[in-house]
Amino acid sequence: MFLIKLGGSIITDKGKKYAFKEDVTDRLSSEIKKANKEIILVHGAGSFGHILAKQYSLNQGYKNDVQLQGFSDTHAMVQQLNSLVLTSLHDQDIAAVSLPPHALLKLDDHKPSTMNYNIFKEYLSKGFTPVTFGDVVLDEKLGFSICSGDLLMQMLAQYFKPEKVLFVLDEDGLYTSNPKTDKNAQFIEKATLDELENLTTSSNTYADVTKGMAGKIETIKNISRLRIDVVLLNGNINNRLYDTLVGRKTKNTYVYGEKR
Ligand code: IPE
Repeated sequence: MFLIKLGGSIITDKGKKYAFKEDVTDRLSSEIKKANKEIILVHGAGSFGHILAKQYSLNQGYKNDVQLQGFSDTHAMVQQLNSLVLTSLHDQDIAAVSLPPHALLKLDDHKPSTMNYNIFKEYLSKGFTPVTFGDVVLDEKLGFSICSGDLLMQMLAQYFKPEKVLFVLDEDGLYTSNPKTDKNAQFIEKATLDELENLTTSSNTYADVTKGMAGKIETIKNISRLRIDVVLLNGNINNRLYDTLVGRKTKNTYVYGEKR
């Protein structure tokens, strides 16, 4: 089984509220169909989630009743994005089923507390493609908080031990520094967990520009520690997802699962 995350920056325009990238998502859906693999799909929230979530400080937990409306509005928006993704998958005859985190799991101070893994397992065993997404959720300590797609990737990787974990991004993969701001940034084709440890140290020095990348590296390291290979690839380029899924050589960053 392959566990795939379509990042919010690849299926939405992060700078524009509620801007769904239909063409890119449709092409990625067709690549998933063509590869014909067993898949659990996770997607980010992009501009359907982050803007509202920030406006109402939802990740800080309950502070006042105004946030309740913010919580439900944010949920409604990410659910809408999820419907757009599902339609795209259904158009390719993929039997995708939505599994919304807010109804399946609870966090405790941002960390996983309970999760209904069985429902993923049952849908998979019947031949469906479970689709879940970054969402607002209940939180034991904070009242509520946000469950990111990256956290879902870690949880699902730990439980299902997939063959490979794929992150579909708007970059070719990992770089030694931020390629958007540093022209000396070098592309990383292959890395071990140890090499990523060094990378985090160096990118933390520039915490302001590489914070997003440092967070992503933490997630990748956690999955690599589960002895699962992680691949990061560019979803904007035709067939990178397909080629990665079928094991064909293409440009991506391959992070080896930690060896015993
Ligand atoms: C964020 O999910 C969820 C909400 C803001 C409600 P992600 O963190 O997985 O989304 P992206 O991939 O960064 O857009």
